[in-house]
Amino acid sequence: MQIIIANSIAGVGMPIAANTLKNTQSVLDSVEYGIRQVELDPTIHSVGRGGWPNVLGQAELDAAIMNGDTMETGAVGALQGYLHPISVARQVMEKLPHVLLVGYGAARFAAEQNMEAGENLTPESIEGWQKWLQSQNREPSAESLETEPLTDLAWRTTDPLTAKGTTIYLARNEAGSIASGVSTSGWAWKYPGRLGDSPLIGAGSYADSRYGAAACIGHGELAIRAGTARAVVLYLKMGMSLQAACKEAIEDLHHLKTSFRGSICLHTMDHNGNYCVVADGPEAHTYYWLWTDSMAAPEKRDALYPEELEA
Ligand code: GLY
Repeated sequence: MQIIIANSIAGVGMPIAANTLKNTQSVLDSVEYGIRQVELDPTIHSVGRGGWPNVLGQAELDAAIMNGDTMETGAVGALQGYLHPISVARQVMEKLPHVLLVGYGAARFAAEQNMEAGENLTPESIEGWQKWLQSQNREPSAESLETEPLTDLAWRTTDPLTAKGTTIYLARNEAGSIASGVSTSGWAWKYPGRLGDSPLIGAGSYADSRYGAAACIGHGELAIRAGTARAVVLYLKMGMSLQAACKEAIEDLHHLKTSFRGSICLHTMDHNGNYCVVADGPEAHTYYWLWTDSMAAPEKRDALYPEELEA
């Protein structure tokens, strides 16, 4: 069974992801090509071009990709100046003995690989940032923050509507190979250098073709602390059903003590192509995109709430 799961904002990439999978059976190409479309869409404010910047007005992008057959992975964090962090992550996986590059090193490597350089800030994302600074009684410029400690401002960014956002893709081909991919501009107005769960393999995403795959959107700090994506796959390895594995991973998240709790939406599939998407938290209601080889076109589906999961 061929199947692709992607999150609610990922619809723009579903047609190319489905066609790629159908025509080539390459799960890595399917995931990468789908995500590239989302990264290019300036109306999506949590991924790539048009993503909300950090508190200093810089677009810092994170992404990861994983090959579930070989368990190879590549990731980038706080990448500036390149349009497709997912493709840079794939090059990290394929060309380096490392799995994660951040900041200057990630940008230097992207240049070496002739990745597409470009401006990810848009007039709308700059305006959104400036309006937010004004709402915090600050001058709308990075210069005005040069000497200010940013710790206090970081605590003022905990709006569940903006402290989240990522695109995720999971794909399985006819032969049972699975891949995962994620890309994000991260938490809006974040502290410079902040990484969420997306570039950290095992937190924001994980794929192992023997058992299944998982990827998270939402409040990345929680998924990092609980190792959520790896936990789901490990629960599958231990013999749990997919819904039971998701329920257990959500319970792990609930166990975390935290002064701010955003939403997490967990997208998962097992090695047979069964799937489960569950949304938890204050902004929990959401939907996702599904394509299988029996569908003429990708379809939208409602995510489950944790209480609907079977143990
Ligand atoms: N889940 C995306 C982030 O926390 O950056």
